[in-house]
Amino acid sequence: MENIEKGDLITTGKAKSLYSTNQADFLVMHYRDDTSAFDGKKIESLEGKGTINNKFNAFIMEYLEKEGIPTHFERLLSETDSLVKKLEMAPVECVVRNVAAGSICKRLGLKEGLDLNPPTFEFFYKDDDLGDPMINEYHIKSFGWATTEQVDQMQEKTFQVNDALKKLFSDAGMILIDYKLEFGSFKGELLLGDEFTPDGCRVWDVETREKLDKDRFRQGLGDVVESYQIMAKRLGVI
Ligand code: ADP
Ligand code: TMP
Ligand code: ASP
Repeated sequence: MENIEKGDLITTGKAKSLYSTNQADFLVMHYRDDTSAFDGKKIESLEGKGTINNKFNAFIMEYLEKEGIPTHFERLLSETDSLVKKLEMAPVECVVRNVAAGSICKRLGLKEGLDLNPPTFEFFYKDDDLGDPMINEYHIKSFGWATTEQVDQMQEKTFQVNDALKKLFSDAGMILIDYKLEFGSFKGELLLGDEFTPDGCRVWDVETREKLDKDRFRQGLGDVVESYQIMAKRLGVI
């Protein structure tokens, strides 16, 4: 693991690029400045976003490992690159919501800010062309995207992340509103993959309820990267 060499580009997502390495089980995850919303319909490059997200993700993944949640994260390689285990990803997004915001408000006519007690869970199918439709666990099993055991584990681990991170954010004066996780398998074990950054969660200031996450970009509120940096400073990431 000492001499990792970055190889060929293998995937370009909306915000990150994956490169092979000289070790078959590992990939380099490169965080770009590209910022997208509404399934890629709104895209902008925001200077410094890749760097802050790379550091933010490393901090959270290491914290989750300590809390007993296994992840793909190995180590930071540079300002914008991290080394990760190469996973077979389930094409599924796992969302936990502590407070109503975003699509659940539109779908169910809820007022933004409503406390969801107990927190609720939703699966989405990861497909931009279809607009990431909401699905249930039967779809995942019927289409062979994951086994019953993996589906159960995805739900369980996503709630475990909630227990760990709700407190981390609240100790730093912030409310974890909701977040999206992706999982994949590595040699038969289900690991948390992808990222946990302000791009994939909602976080509000506890006093003012100001939005600090990617809703600033979605809603044109401005100071997107600056706000990600405020979150990172409060958590002790930077
Ligand atoms: P998206 O366009 O889906 O938002 P990103 O820009 O976030 O994509 O790129 C990351 C891509 O890499 C996603 O398709 C994600 O599912 C995938 N991915 C994340 N972690 C891993 C991993 N450890 N191994 C393989 N693929 C991964
Ligand atoms: P939603 O309210 O749009 O369904 O999003 C719920 C949470 O999941 C929110 O924190 C944003 C995150 N999310 C992503 O990161 N990527 C996605 O493709 C979607 C649909 C949601
Ligand atoms: N992640 C999706 C996109 O980039 C959805 C969103 O965040 O609004 O388009």
